[in-house]
Amino acid sequence: MPDIAFVKPALPKGGALVLPMTEGDPPAGLGKEADAASGGLLTRALEAAGFKGRKGQATTLWALGGWTKVVAVGLGKASELGPEAAEAAGGAIAPALAADREAMVAADSLDPSLAASIGFGALLRGWRFDRYRTKEKEEDKPKLERIAIATSSVSAAKAAFVPMRAVADGVFMARELVTEPPNVLHPVEFAERCRVLERLGVEVEVMGLKELKRLGFGAMIGVAQGSQHEPRMVVMQWRGAPKGKKAKPIALIGKGVTFDTGGISIKPAGGMEDMKWDMAGAGAVVGAMAAIAGRKAKADVIGLVGLVENMPSGTAQRPGDVVKTYSGQTVEVINTDAEGRLVLADVMWYCQERFDPRAMVDLATLTGAIIISLGHEHAGLFSNDDELAQRVSAAGSAVGEKVWRMPLGEAYDKQIKSDIADMKNVGGRPGGSITAAQFLQRFTNGKPWAHLDIAGTAWSGKDQPTVPKGATAFGVRLLDRLVEDMAEEG
Ligand code: BES
Ligand code: MN
Ligand code: ZN
Repeated sequence: MPDIAFVKPALPKGGALVLPMTEGDPPAGLGKEADAASGGLLTRALEAAGFKGRKGQATTLWALGGWTKVVAVGLGKASELGPEAAEAAGGAIAPALAADREAMVAADSLDPSLAASIGFGALLRGWRFDRYRTKEKEEDKPKLERIAIATSSVSAAKAAFVPMRAVADGVFMARELVTEPPNVLHPVEFAERCRVLERLGVEVEVMGLKELKRLGFGAMIGVAQGSQHEPRMVVMQWRGAPKGKKAKPIALIGKGVTFDTGGISIKPAGGMEDMKWDMAGAGAVVGAMAAIAGRKAKADVIGLVGLVENMPSGTAQRPGDVVKTYSGQTVEVINTDAEGRLVLADVMWYCQERFDPRAMVDLATLTGAIIISLGHEHAGLFSNDDELAQRVSAAGSAVGEKVWRMPLGEAYDKQIKSDIADMKNVGGRPGGSITAAQFLQRFTNGKPWAHLDIAGTAWSGKDQPTVPKGATAFGVRLLDRLVEDMAEEG
């Protein structure tokens, strides 16, 4: 990952030069100087190459003037220029410069906060996971070590970048957890990795099997009992609200199934390896806690993750089993592959009982059905509270993690009635994501709650402007923004 530095504008004589440009406009600031220095060749070459400055468009001109390359990146229309376009332009830099060690970005004609957003985008897109590559050739490795961003105010750009850097670190933590293979990242290891948050001032509590049994987490333990790896629940507390401004905390809850085979209701073999990322909800919660603590948010935020591995074995739970949840409600387990809701049921009830949160937001790769409904563009949002739903939507739109609200209702709730217990864990194929949410709602105890089904957005099959393909860390930025909007402004 490249270092991001902010520097005073000065046209470099050689090396790689990046010009962020608005749509249809001539180069400004250092870009204008560069064009003049090249005798107008720069603008002629860009025109010949068909560069228009459209958002995310990137064109490379080789060996122009004294520069090894000039990369023009599009910011879109000047009238619509904002953080998102600047991030996307920054994101275009990383792939265009993979072979260079250093680059200078001419952002001196932009607002310094947008110069920071360019750096943020470049950072987010430049992330890469290569822990398990031992044979990559030197020439295939990305070389970019440092991006110097020229800005009219170094101090303002640096100040704007400080929280972005913290959020990026949270995003990277989540991506790393989600990408790690399931033999490495089992529940015990996941819980251990949460401890790094202590360095940021987060209180981290890890509960093991004995503790969970003592508490009566029957649903979560039922899922875990087929695995060689013990379950864990991790409770993370960030207490950043200023004294005298103490309100109820915001609680973030994540599904952390480190591998989901389906259990005895086993999944088909094809694509089962994807189920290593069935802990992406938990990954997002840990990443969000890192972001929130890293930027020293003035808010009280609790993160809880339920960590289990869902395996078939002689000790695994069976379809037909009835388990008793921490809330006291009983569940008939019809399908052992509907395990996420069983884990969340116990963690959510515990959360509302212990912390009485102002709002409870859970994230879970909960249902394949949400992919059928919304594809990979929006996460499903379910909520019992219109104001909270509105805030979650707004936070998602602001950071490019889009959500779409889905309905809840009594008629759906009837689908999970059981003949033998208080409820069953599946409601049949119709509205599968909704009945899953209805199940969760029974463990909110009526408190304000929002559920994000991120099964379609946690992993990306293609590169996106600020997200390389693979683990997206969907939710980290949304949760960070939600906390900023809700708790820091009241
Ligand atoms: N982890 C899966 C959901 C999932 C599917 C996530 C595809 C990401 C990609 C979840 O535990 C599951 O297996 N859900 C079942 C529920 C069904 C048994 C009611 C599903 O969606 O098929
Ligand atoms: Mn499952
Ligand atoms: Zn699952």
